[in-house]
Amino acid sequence: MYTGLLHAHHWLRYIALILLLISIVKAIIDLKHKGQEIKSRKTELYSLISVHLQLLIGLGLFFVSHKIELALGDMGMAMKDPALRLALIEHPLLMLIGIILITLGYMKLKTITDRALYGKTVLIYYGIGTLLILSRIPMYSWTL
Ligand code: HEM
Ligand code: HEM
Repeated sequence: MYTGLLHAHHWLRYIALILLLISIVKAIIDLKHKGQEIKSRKTELYSLISVHLQLLIGLGLFFVSHKIELALGDMGMAMKDPALRLALIEHPLLMLIGIILITLGYMKLKTITDRALYGKTVLIYYGIGTLLILSRIPMYSWTL
């Protein structure tokens, strides 16, 4: 169970980040098309689905991870250990805030038809959300 969730969480990160990056690049292009109607909302929807799936798997991991069990066993020690503090508090909290921002952005996008305004909204919500997500991905996980 743990290994399966960890692998899914590890690899889905690349898919989510690629989709978020495409949304951001598309948004920069959309900015220059004021007055035109938006043609497709698929990239933003797929990005949303990928981060929601990552949230679901992350929540599952939280309850089966040995690292979290260890950290919860001695909170005082965990707070002093950067790796345990990241896994227990910083990573879940910042990811959750990032995903909430992306979700709020997607809900706002539904009411927007102008391409430039659409792009601006994606840049703000998806852009900040992506930065928060990137800021708390464990360094060790890039080399696995
Ligand atoms: C802990 C799990 C999850 C939570 C708390 C959550 C929460 C939310 C929220 C608050 C929204 C915004 C609803 C709205 O537009 O008014 C939403 C939308 C959405 N979620 Fe999730 N979600 C979760 C998991 C998932 C999963 C696993 C998937 C798919 C694999 C998913 C797919 C979607 C889609 C497609 C939408 C957009 C629906 C639309 O077009 O309005 N979510 N979710
Ligand atoms: C888009 C959002 C997220 C991304 C991109 C992401 C990415 C990652 C990555 C790359 C790892 C390292 C996995 C490895 O060992 O290779 C990780 C670990 C972890 N993530 Fe996430 N995560 C996200 C959201 C969440 C959320 C919302 C939670 C919890 C509510 C969560 C809980 C965890 C836990 C507990 C671990 C440590 C597991 C362990 O080492 O035992 N993640 N995450």
